[in-house]
Amino acid sequence: MCGIVGVLGSHEAAPILVESLKRLEYRGYDSAGIATVNDGVLDRRRAVGKLVNLSDLLVHDPLAGKSGIGHTRWATHGGPSVTNAHPHQAGDVAVVHNGIIENFRELREELAGLGVNFHTETDTETIALLTAHYLDHGMSPVDAAAKTLSRLDGAFALAFLFSGEDDLMIGARKGSPLAVGHGEGEMYLGSDAIALSPMTDKITYLEDGDWVILTRNSCEIRDADGQSVTREMRTIRIDAARVDKAGHKHFMAKEIAEQPRVIGEALRHYLGAEGTDIALPDEIDFTKLDRLTMVACGTAFYACLTAKYWFEQIAGMPVEVDVASEFRYREPPISDRTAALFVSQSGETADTLAALRYCQGKADQILSVVNVPESSIARESDVALPILAGVEIGVASTKAFTCQLTVLLLLALEAAKQRGRMTPERLADLTSHMRALPTVLNAALDEDAAMQACATGLAEAQDVLFLGRGLMYPLALEGALKLKEISYIHAEAYASGELKHGPIALIDRNVPVVVFAPRDSLFEKSVSNMQEVMAREGKVLLISDAAGAKDAAADAWKTITMPAIDPVLAPIVYAIPAQLLAYHTAVAKGTDVDQPRNLAKSVTVE
Ligand code: F6R
Repeated sequence: MCGIVGVLGSHEAAPILVESLKRLEYRGYDSAGIATVNDGVLDRRRAVGKLVNLSDLLVHDPLAGKSGIGHTRWATHGGPSVTNAHPHQAGDVAVVHNGIIENFRELREELAGLGVNFHTETDTETIALLTAHYLDHGMSPVDAAAKTLSRLDGAFALAFLFSGEDDLMIGARKGSPLAVGHGEGEMYLGSDAIALSPMTDKITYLEDGDWVILTRNSCEIRDADGQSVTREMRTIRIDAARVDKAGHKHFMAKEIAEQPRVIGEALRHYLGAEGTDIALPDEIDFTKLDRLTMVACGTAFYACLTAKYWFEQIAGMPVEVDVASEFRYREPPISDRTAALFVSQSGETADTLAALRYCQGKADQILSVVNVPESSIARESDVALPILAGVEIGVASTKAFTCQLTVLLLLALEAAKQRGRMTPERLADLTSHMRALPTVLNAALDEDAAMQACATGLAEAQDVLFLGRGLMYPLALEGALKLKEISYIHAEAYASGELKHGPIALIDRNVPVVVFAPRDSLFEKSVSNMQEVMAREGKVLLISDAAGAKDAAADAWKTITMPAIDPVLAPIVYAIPAQLLAYHTAVAKGTDVDQPRNLAKSVTVE
């Protein structure tokens, strides 16, 4: 979380910094700020809340200078306030930071012992004060920054700017991502390439421990030992439409609507235009494996839970799934006949990355399923499979989830094939159903009005339960997560059969219960669970297909009818009502759909 940007340019820096921060706002939006150097004078502007507040401030109180750094914050140490907002300035240095400095208390005590005063509750101020301290003791900006970096424990991406230095900016990364952008007589820093895309497509990703000394015409990268190193400069293809709502009211609505197209593209990538053969890298060999360990966070974790059913049922492969924040602290034994698979939209989630590193050298192979091919998780995997969802801006994940499911299902089918668990006929049948997914998803999206009508009822609820059996259970978890994160309504999900073991006590006429129940082999059992809810005056919102609705809709509060689909693929299709119910409920409640409170899209702290 937190986005950082830096510019050594030939035009005024403030508008460029604000435009870049707009592209980084997905990383946090508690406050924003910029600092510039103008004829040697370092100055800054900061505002609480969304970036628009900083833009407004800059209209009334502009900031001149062609060199600058900027920050959009997701608060960790210290609440959202102007004082705690970045850049933090101390004497002749200003710093922006993404990450957490774990030893900041020790450093603070040390500085306090030297008579240094603190003005904020942040860990970042310590970095600025430490650097200023070294500058005051006669060190050059480069030496002061290097000395400071050597004192820091934890995770960081940093940009430093100095008084009297119109042509110098220093960047550093350890744990958190940082990219250098190369322009014509200009140089940039950014948390990701998207932030820099209006200025340049020439990007160098710093490696862990690297730091960089930038002037307008030079870029010197040093590693953690201070040795000069060369890192590859790549030309990145940035889709210009990525920050455009394309006529939709919210990015989330646009991204939900995009699913038939992006899943179609993912399928073309892995299946070819016509073919049934799944094209995966040759290194993926499920025959030599005993087990798959899957690790992720949030929505990506629910994609893994879904994939567990697929791998176990159709490939006969034992799978363990864990949330990344718990995984490595459990110290699970990993055998060398295990493949470890990490799923992440951003590819930068700190816990998932740490779990991946835990498995390096233990597992037979590190696989990842990611949306950002240049991300740390992709780069540190033996094999990274792209989900090809395109940039996802809405903080609540939608198209990344269904693209993750698509790629994970293809992987499970490949595992089934390699392990001789599926007949060629059934494989061809399922891949042909998969190729029909864009059409089926469009039919699901056509039910939007019905979902909007149901959402009006959900918006009045204080609590909502989601139920599902089998493959619909992880989807129920995802539905509850979507609803709570954007509408702020308390939502819980249970495996339908678990209801009677406790949660049924919550049921009354005020608690809507969303039941995902396609007419599959578990349908009758789901209907029984529905009856248990309705017998206690619970309001059931049934999401099923026409056959299921015919048999079970009679007593339901409301019913949404999905197109018929092979049960194996149902989670991908039923994700649409899970997403649209949450979306319309949030719109009805008037919440900030794309940037819900307290959240950030890329969670780069533990
Ligand atoms: C929820 C959501 C989050 C992410 C989670 C993992 O809508 O988006 O739960 O799924 O933070 O993020 P990635 O996939 O980037 O590792």
